[in-house]
Amino acid sequence: MTKGFLSKSYGKTTSVSVRAHYDEWATSYNKEITENGYATPGRCAAALAQFSNDRTAPILDFGRGTSLSGLALKLAGFQVIDGIDLSADMLKVAKTTETYRSLELIEPNAVLPTPDVAYANIAAIGVIGAGAAPISVFHLLMHALPKGGKLVFSLNGHALADPENEAAINEWTKKGSANLLFKEHGDHLPGINLKSNVYVVEKT
Ligand SMILES: C[S@@+](CC[C@H](N)C(=O)[O-])C[C@H]1O[C@@H](n2cnc3c(N)ncnc32)[C@H](O)[C@@H]1O
Repeated sequence: MTKGFLSKSYGKTTSVSVRAHYDEWATSYNKEITENGYATPGRCAAALAQFSNDRTAPILDFGRGTSLSGLALKLAGFQVIDGIDLSADMLKVAKTTETYRSLELIEPNAVLPTPDVAYANIAAIGVIGAGAAPISVFHLLMHALPKGGKLVFSLNGHALADPENEAAINEWTKKGSANLLFKEHGDHLPGINLKSNVYVVEKT
C-alpha cells in the first residue's frame, strides 16, 4: 500500500527539507508506516538484545521519530530509553507515549547531549540514508559510544544503493576501532517491497 508521505520520503537532501517533511508527516506517520508492515524496529531491537548483557543501562534512541523504535526497544527488554530527533512535531507525538525517560530536540550536526555516563547502547533505526540523516551521523554516534558500546542501526534499500553508506562501517572495522557483530538483510516495509540491512557494531 503506497500513499501519503511514504512515497515522498526518499528524495529529501537537506536537513531543512528532512525536518519539514517529518514535521508534516508526524500525525499520520504511525498509521501509514504500520499499514506498510514496518519491520525494522523489531529486527533492530532483537538484534541488539542478543548482544546486550545489561538491558537496564540507559540507551539512546537517535532519530526516535514518534516512538515506534523506542517501543520496539522496550518490548525487547530495554528499560531506560532517551530519545532525540530533529522534528518538533514528531517529538509532540512521542510525548504522548510513555516510552522514554527523556525526549530532546536536536539540531542537525549538533553535539549530542551528554548523559552522566556515556550510553552503552545507541540505536538509529530507520534514520540514516536517503531522505533522512547523512552517514556522518553514523560516525557521530560511534564517537559518542564508550569502548565496548554497541550501535544498532539500519540502512534501507535506498540507503544501500549508495555504497558510501555501508563503507562507513568498514572505515571503523578496518582500522580495528570496531567489530561488526551482526548484519542481516530482511523486511523493512513489505507494503512497498522495501528491504533493509540491520547492523550491530561494537566499538573496540
Ligand atoms: C523514518 S523516521 C524513523 C523514526 C523512528 N526511529 C522509527 O523507527 O519509527 C526518521 C527519523 O529520523 C529523524 N532524523 C532525520 N535526520 C536526523 C538528524 N540529522 N538528526 C536527528 N534526527 C534525524 C527524522 O526527524 C525522523 O523522525
